[in-house]
Parts: sequence; C-alpha cells; structure tokens
Amino acid sequence: MVLPTSGADEMLDLIAKTFIEQGSEVVLAQVTFPRYLSTSQMMGAELKIVPPMRGLAYDAAAFKRAITPETRLVWLCNPPNNPPTGSYLSRTELEDLLAAVSPPETLVVYDEAYQEFATAPDFPPHNSLAYLREYENLLILKTLSKAYGLAGLRVGFAFGDPALLDLVNKIRNPFNVTYLTQMAALAALDDEQFVARAVEENSKSKHHLYGEFDRLGIEYGKTEANHIMFNAKKTAQKSSTNFCEGGHYRQACQRYLAAGKFGHTARKQAVYCGSDRSVGLRKWAK
Ligand SMILES: Cc1ncc(COP(=O)(O)O)c(C=O)c1O
Repeated sequence: MVLPTSGADEMLDLIAKTFIEQGSEVVLAQVTFPRYLSTSQMMGAELKIVPPMRGLAYDAAAFKRAITPETRLVWLCNPPNNPPTGSYLSRTELEDLLAAVSPPETLVVYDEAYQEFATAPDFPPHNSLAYLREYENLLILKTLSKAYGLAGLRVGFAFGDPALLDLVNKIRNPFNVTYLTQMAALAALDDEQFVARAVEENSKSKHHLYGEFDRLGIEYGKTEANHIMFNAKKTAQKSSTNFCEGGHYRQACQRYLAAGKFGHTARKQAVYCGSDRSVGLRKWAK
C-alpha cells in the first residue's frame, strides 16, 4: 500500500504520532535528518542515539546493537541527509540490520529521500519496495522534493503494510495533498527524463567538486546524495556568504556541524551541488 502526504516531512510527523508514545524506545543516528529527533521528542520517546563512526560514517553495527525487543521505532536514512560524508548503509548492512529486528514489535522507517542520486555498486537496490514482501515491520519513505524537483509542491509517500498505513491514515488530514500537487506528482513520476537529467547533472557537479577539492587540497567526503561536506576552515556563515557573493552556488546553505562535537577541529559545511559548476573554491583555499 502507498500513502501520500504533504512531503515526506508530514509523513514523518504522522508516523511519530501514530507509533510513538510516552517512553517508547526510539533508535536514531546522532547526526541525521533533524525531524526524526524533533518528532520523537514531541511524542515523549526514550531516545537511543547512535553516534557515527570516526569520519562521521554510519555505524551499522552500533545501530544493530542499539535495537532491542523493546525498541518501538528505528529511523534510518539512506543515503544519509546529515552528515553528507558519503557514508551510507550498504545492501549487506541494511539487510543484516533488517533481519536483526524482530517484528512486529519494532517498526523500521527507511527514508530514501535521496535514493535516486546513489550510484555506489553496493548501495541497496533502488527497487527497495521488494523488501516489503520480506519485512512486514518496514515503512519505506520517498519524496518528490529531491531528484524530482517538486519540493515546493509538497509530496511524499510511505510504502508498507496496509495494516500499518491504515493506522497512519486515520490521523492524516484528508485534504493534505492538493489536487494541483497530485496532478504535478503524476506528471513528475512519468517524466523519467527529468530525473535522469537531475541525477546526471548532480553526478557531473559532484565530480567537478571532487576534482576542485583535490586540486586545492580541501578535505571533503564523497557523497551518494546531492550534497557534499567539506572542511571550509571558516565559520559556516562566512563560507556561505562567500558562496552567495560569488554567485556560484546560489543554493549554498548554512547547514553546518559544530566543530569539536565529533572530534574535528574545523567547522564543516554542507553545500548543495547546483547545476553551475564554475564554483570559485579558491576562496576557501585562501
Ligand atoms: C532525509 C530527508 N527525509 C525527508 C525530508 C523531507 O522531504 P519533503 O520535502 O518531502 O518533506 C528531507 C528534506 O530535506 C530529508 O532530507
């Protein structure tokens, strides 16, 4: 069964409201899409936060250790939104993790917001919906906000067991996805060329950036999504201002991770890859 919502964001909220109650054990990564934390906290969850490995990589083994029969819900994001270090759960890691979760007590929410961009050979299959036949305690989240380019229209989906999604549906606002959005979503889902182009442009952008980072000696992490984290060696605000002033990457964003928190000496900033690849990275090198 599939259930649409006003962006995957609304779905996260509804899932939290449906399945988490005061004191429910919830497992999530320390650095991840912040809405997992805020919605879980809002419902009074008992949080089990899994720190990343050195270099901010996903720690699949630690996730597995954190999940117990008491766990109500596990938030997974693959490829991860934050930190965009290029770390991801491989097919083996994901399947190992899913197999270790004992249904039906524990629900796994697997958020694939950036999946279309992932190209690593060991990344889980893009037709991940096949997992639903095997794991009845799994909800797979998708969004048209990223590779499909419809962020402003707000549409996301959850795929999963009808019994689970029926529960979520009970608290869904019946008018949550507008008619216009539904029409746009259907057109976008048919427009395979658009997605292919977005993925290709993203790939060109990221390889261009890898080359520039290498040339300038800037530390960075390879990415399976559409954003790269690099060591700007300046405050996020200053770096972001430089980016915008240069007019190179209008989508430069001010997401950054606090220095020191993860043992890094410099602040790191994530920058979305735009289609303009003539980025003036020398500013950072100076
Ligand atoms: C990992 C992840 N999940 C979900 C969302 C929410 O997407 P939507 O625009 O569909 O609400 C985002 C948005 O940035 C995201 O990064």
